[in-house]
Order: sequence, then C-alpha cells, then structure tokens
Amino acid sequence: MDEYALKCENISKSFPGVQALDNVGFDLKKGEVHALCGENGAGKSTLIKIVTGLYQKDSGDIIYEGSKINYKSTIECRKNGIALIPQELQLAETLTVAENVFMTDFPRKGIIVDWKVMMKKTRALQERLGAAALTFQPQDLVSKLSMGQRQLVEIMKAISTGVKLIAFDEPTSSLSDEETREMFRLIQELTNQGISIIYVSHRLAEIFKIADRVTVFKDGKLIGTKAIAETNPQELISMMVGRDMNLYQKSHDGIVGETLLEAKNLTRGSKVKNVSFTLKQGEVLGMFGIVGSGRTETVRLLFGLDRMDSGEVIMHGKKLNIKSPRDAVREKIGLITEDRRGEGLSLVMSVAQNITMPYFSKFRKHGVLDLKEEAKTAGKMVEILNIKTPGLKTRVETLSGGNQQKIVISKWLGADSEILIFDEPTRGIDVGAKAEIHKLMDNLSKEGRGIIMISSELPEILSMSDRILVFRDGEIKAELENTESLTEEDVLSYSIKTR
Ligand SMILES: Nc1ncnc2c1ncn2[C@@H]1O[C@H](COP(=O)(O)OP(=O)(O)OP(=O)(O)O)[C@@H](O)[C@H]1O
Ligand SMILES: [Mg+2]
Repeated sequence: MDEYALKCENISKSFPGVQALDNVGFDLKKGEVHALCGENGAGKSTLIKIVTGLYQKDSGDIIYEGSKINYKSTIECRKNGIALIPQELQLAETLTVAENVFMTDFPRKGIIVDWKVMMKKTRALQERLGAAALTFQPQDLVSKLSMGQRQLVEIMKAISTGVKLIAFDEPTSSLSDEETREMFRLIQELTNQGISIIYVSHRLAEIFKIADRVTVFKDGKLIGTKAIAETNPQELISMMVGRDMNLYQKSHDGIVGETLLEAKNLTRGSKVKNVSFTLKQGEVLGMFGIVGSGRTETVRLLFGLDRMDSGEVIMHGKKLNIKSPRDAVREKIGLITEDRRGEGLSLVMSVAQNITMPYFSKFRKHGVLDLKEEAKTAGKMVEILNIKTPGLKTRVETLSGGNQQKIVISKWLGADSEILIFDEPTRGIDVGAKAEIHKLMDNLSKEGRGIIMISSELPEILSMSDRILVFRDGEIKAELENTESLTEEDVLSYSIKTR
C-alpha cells in the first residue's frame, strides 16, 4: 500500500500581477502532520486552496491516494475526503451549529429535511471530538460561539463526510491558550485515526510541537522540506527569510519621559474592574493576560469604543471626555485593532486608499484629492513594511492574510498620534515583518510617543515592553518592570489562577 496520502508535483498558479506558486511540490504521508511555513504572501494559503478545490492550479499534478485527481470544487473535494479549515472561517453566523455542519448535504426523509436525524448526527460528531466540542448544543447559533468553538464546528463539518485529509490555515491565530491545547489534542486524535494533516502556521513553537515534517516556501518558490527532528527554529527562520535573525533579542529599551496619560479606576461591568495605570512619553507599556482577561476591553474605553461606568482618563494633566473614536483621534490617541477584517480594513478599496485613510484630509487640495501625494505616501509604507502586493491600486481583499494585517498597521504609523495602542500587532505576521513592526514601534516611542501594546505572546512582551501590566479577570494583577532578570514564567504566573 502507498504510504502517501498526497503528492503535489510542479504546481504553478498565478494571479494578475503575481506568480503565487512557481513549480512547487510537497508530499504528505498517511497520518502525518506536515507543516507549511514561509513569509506573508509566500503562497501557503494558495497551495492548500488548490489542494482542497477552492482554487484551480494553472499546471502541475496532484496525486491523491495513488491516483491523479482533478477535482473542480470544494464540494467535490469534500466528497472525496479532502477538507479545508480556512484562515478566515466561513460559517454562517445566523444559522445553527447543525445547519452549518450539514449545509451542503442535509439529511432528508424523502424531500423533507430530517431535523431529528440532523441533530443526532451533529451530537455524535461532537462526541467524537470530545469534551471541548460538548460545550455547545447542535441547535446553538454560531454567532453565540467563541472562536475556538467555531473552529470545532468547521472541523465537525470536515469530518462529517468521512474525511482523510484536513488542511488547517493558521487555526490557532484567534484561539486562547486553552483552546489551542485542545486543538492539538484533537489533531493528535485525528492522526491516530489515520487522517493526514496539512498545517499552516507562523508560530514556530507550534510547528515543533505537533508537526512531523515542515516545508518552507518563499515568494512562491519551494525552499525545502525537513523532518522536525532534524531541524531547529533558527534554521527554519533563515530558510524563510533568507538570512540569519536573532529571535529573542530585546527590540526596545525606552528612554522614558514625562507622564503622558493617567487612567484612574476604569470600570465597565465585570469586564474592567478598577483599572489604573500611567503611560509615559517614550514608553512601551505591555499588557499581558489570557484571552478575555480585560486588556482589549480596557483599551476600548480609552479609545471611546465603549463607555466606562466610572473612572477617568487624564492626558497632559487634563481630564479627557472621550465619547467616541472620533474624540480619541482628536486627542491624538490611535488604536490598531486586533480584528483586521472587521474594524481595520475596507476590503473593496485599494491598498493606497486603505493606507492613507486616516490622513485623508491631508491629500485634499481645494477639495480635490491629490492622487500623486497619496501614492507617494502609500508607496513608502508598502516599502517600509515589505507589503507584498502587485500594485497600489490592488484591492485589499486579494492580498494574503498577513499582508492585510500589515496594511492595518501602516494606516496608523503615519498619523500624528501621541498615544498609539496596538492590540496584538503581529498576530499572523511572519518573523521578518514582525521584526520590522517592532523596529517601527521602537522608532515611534523614540519620537516621544507613548505606546500600549497588548500581546499574548510572551517573547514579544518581554522583547518590547518597558513595563508590563498583567491582567486577569478584568483586573491588573501585577505591574512589572521589565528588567533583565524577569522571565516568561514570572509574567505567566500572575496571569493564571495559581497566584
Ligand atoms: N484571489 C486572489 N487574487 C489575487 N491575488 C491573490 C489571490 N489569492 C492570493 N493572491 C496573491 O498570491 C500571493 C500568495 O498569497 P497567499 O495567500 O497564498 O500567501 P500566504 O503564504 O498564505 O501568506 P500569509 O502568511 O500572509 O497568509 C500573494 O501575493 C497574494 O496577494
Ligand atoms: Mg495565508
């Protein structure tokens, strides 16, 4: 019997202005977890979309279970046991769990949908996935579920049709630590059942935890495949970015000035409880905590996205009265949100229009938009952040996930904010660009601005922060000076219940 579930040979795919994949190949053994990695825009998502029927290749061969296939759609792939868990989940939020799982293939009695069977089948799938999947009901609306639970619904959809191969596209990028651990257990379970996994991720630690082999791409080209046991993070990084890079160096050390902002006893329901802190000029203030600990909820108050029940914010000694993001921007406070598709981007607009949106008025002369000036500014950002796009006029929705994220960030870099709040700034961003973004944040702080950075990644918190606030259950549990002797374990211990 063939030990390979899948072989891709000489695959090429181009889009207008981009060669997304250039003659690449990789193979997947039965029951294996094979990770794909590479910089933003390297072609990872494109390759798995081709394998799972969402895109058609221009040329090359796909050999599945020993024979050449040419499936034309995701439905055809799914029928034959190949499923995709996409980077941006595709569930219908207004439908129930069961309806989403059986969307393309409702169980029927004659011509009538058999709801009872559908609920029962859904429940059986939940049981197959274990405890985490039993935290919701078949009849629950998807809109009520957490990101982790939605991920599970996508997996239920995948395994409902006798799946043999599942491709995951950055599955953990919006999961909590606990949900991530559950996901890994589940992947283990699936491989034990003989299911083969393709796993796309920027998180090297994850790849070393769950993958058997890893293949690296760069600019649509294959760099190489390694057995996990025979490589290390440093080697993978240099394969990805084409040079050596020190992962763990300190990227910022602030010369901290006057107090810029003072938050006093901020409170909103049970989400934010009596939160007080200061932010100084030139400082990077790290906010660490698990998902739901109150970090995002706190900065939403500062930016006027939510109203506080009580508390006050003082800037330059003056009490602020922020009722909306517009007020916040006027006070020179900027927020780079974690939700790029929701609040951060206008998908149908061009790269240039998105980048220059916050300082739109700057490019208006006598009511006419100065397109040349707009293009110049946008072009500079594209260069600084190494945004992979065919051109400045390209619609943002066609860019790779990580490149969309870079555009969200670039929008604020040019604005003249005194305080910049970054919520998970490098989630889904490759290592090279991550270093670039850290350098930019460092430069912004050196200009005397104050920076608040929310991050769930401890190496990022330790490498960037001057001071660290640790959140748990809506409260600040610790304020830590980031000295040489501070360790990841120290910070973590305040964020979990043991302390
Ligand atoms: N539907 C599309 N239309 C036009 N261009 C596309 C489309 N999908 C992908 N591309 C382009 O193909 C290239 C590869 O994109 P892909 O999404 O595969 O990258 P990726 O490796 O998944 O990156 P990331 O880590 O940022 O998710 C990019 O330059 C992207 O802009
Ligand atoms: Mg991608």
